[in-house]
Amino acid sequence: MTARLQTIAISKHYDSVTALSATDLEVRDGEFLTLLGPSGSGKTTLLQILAGLVEPSGGRLLINGKDATHAAAGDRGIGMVFQSYALFPHLSVWENIAYPLRMRKMDKAAMASAVKDALEMVQMGSYAHRLPRELSGGQQQRIALARCFVYKPSVILLDEPLGALDKKLREHMQSEIRSLHKDLGATFIYVTHDQEEALNLSDRICLMNQSKIEQIGTPQDLYDKPATAFSAQFIGYSNLLSGRVEKHAGDDNIRLCNARFSVPIHVPEHVPVHSLLPLDKTPGADDISLVIRPEEARLSSVDDAYVKGTVREVVFAGSDFRVLVDIGEKQPFLLRCGRRDAPAPGDTVGVTWNPAHTAVVTC
Ligand SMILES: Nc1ncnc2c1ncn2[C@@H]1O[C@H](COP(=O)(O)OP(=O)(O)OP(=O)(O)O)[C@@H](O)[C@H]1O
Ligand SMILES: [Mg+2]
Repeated sequence: MTARLQTIAISKHYDSVTALSATDLEVRDGEFLTLLGPSGSGKTTLLQILAGLVEPSGGRLLINGKDATHAAAGDRGIGMVFQSYALFPHLSVWENIAYPLRMRKMDKAAMASAVKDALEMVQMGSYAHRLPRELSGGQQQRIALARCFVYKPSVILLDEPLGALDKKLREHMQSEIRSLHKDLGATFIYVTHDQEEALNLSDRICLMNQSKIEQIGTPQDLYDKPATAFSAQFIGYSNLLSGRVEKHAGDDNIRLCNARFSVPIHVPEHVPVHSLLPLDKTPGADDISLVIRPEEARLSSVDDAYVKGTVREVVFAGSDFRVLVDIGEKQPFLLRCGRRDAPAPGDTVGVTWNPAHTAVVTC
């Protein structure tokens, strides 16, 4: 199937600043793709290149398989919602939403009906005659969404559209955006630096870091199979153990070792064992990390443990306790445990896990 949008080595430089390194990305028809990443990682730049608001320094953009690298923004069939609502302050809500239709010279009756539908879609039917300044932030954002949806673009780009809203309203608008995506059947590309929002909304997440795509996949893929230490730490909480990979005669396992532990590494079937052994790397370099999610680890007796240490902190978290264990690494090890099993600060404890429920990443 032809990708709805495809970039081929598309890039953007501002003098000596690389805003976007050469990037290959395919966006599927009708999907909800989120660009997630820290500030300055190139999310807005990529979105602006797709929209035609920024000229790329190199590479190509295909829309439905056709070259659109230099197509005018208005000819791309792409709608955009910005972080600042960018409503016209002197126009009523109704006129704001009608604006893109007037630009397209739609006839009056069709326009009135389209504006009415768009207002109802965002549940703002009774606000048609107000001015933007007479609305709350969340209401203005809904009008900005309606103004984008009214002309039914088949691709909609949203740059942190909920950034200015408080937590409760954000959650409400997230579910509205999710159902609008379903109703419209359009392709959504959504920018956020909030990982929870990305996990909630997306079919796929494109994780960006330092002007590059770090990893792309379903939310579950990124959580369960982080490819790098950055992915593991940006999505959810991760315990990272770093060390050398070793294989000893007479031991079926390959192991991750440092001065404090030697733990088995589970090698997934599709990964050749030799790819994990740092044969071509500096001997002894700490270049592999094991990712153990807090929910996959449990307390055990010291004798059976993969790692051991001293309990630093036990925090009541409602249904369970969060336990931080000093294991002699940079970060304490975080795990959760039931109310009855909670240790006390200062206790010496062991920690264990199922090696099959861990991931190996490069640092
Ligand atoms: N017009 C510009 N001139 C110079 N540098 C720019 C320009 N626009 C962006 N940059 C730089 O390019 C990099 C990527 O910026 P971009 O706005 O794409 O990041 P972002 O991921 O959207 O960040 P944020 O989450 O803060 O919005 C940053 O280092 C930024 O300073
Ligand atoms: Mg941005």
